[in-house]
Amino acid sequence: MDQLEQWRAKLQEAAAETYPENKLVFGEGETKPRLMMIGEAPGGDEERLGRPFVGKAGKNLSSFLETVGLQREEIYITNVVKLRPTKINPKSGRTVNRPPSASEVEFFLPYLKEEIKLIAPEWIVTLGNVPLRAVTGEKQAVIGDYHGKASPLENGATLFALYHPAAIIYNPDLSAIYQQDLQALRTALGQ
Ligand code: URA
Repeated sequence: MDQLEQWRAKLQEAAAETYPENKLVFGEGETKPRLMMIGEAPGGDEERLGRPFVGKAGKNLSSFLETVGLQREEIYITNVVKLRPTKINPKSGRTVNRPPSASEVEFFLPYLKEEIKLIAPEWIVTLGNVPLRAVTGEKQAVIGDYHGKASPLENGATLFALYHPAAIIYNPDLSAIYQQDLQALRTALGQ
């Protein structure tokens, strides 16, 4: 078993105790990449297919990759929280996504740190506040202060923070900023 498989088995075992009802969605992709992308948590499509950033989020990711000049296979993609946070919508009675809770983030954070160590990327791209805070260790960090520029991290990698693509859907004013940020990332990567 390689180190990543050992890490996965350890997380699977711990999560089976704390979150016995949930299916985990692990990271995937190139395990020695230049760039590691970190999202918030899987949604419904991700849980169903057992893969991060598929369905609608996968489409967003494809356009991100195209703009930045990367292929999905050459990066490693993961989430802070490896299970789908849900709630019941009181109006429709349906199961819907919700942001991860503080305790879910706390549970998964040590595993994310280990995952980053094992993957050892040159660049870490975070989508939104949850992974930004997880990676910087600053609980009050806000994406507005970090987005669109390279910031060195203690682990030797360089952070490039982006808004979460879902935030752009809810706030169209962010769309132009997001596109500028992607161009800045492309330049920073030398693509
Ligand atoms: N899908 C994911 O896997 N992560 C996100 O943050 C959003 C959608």
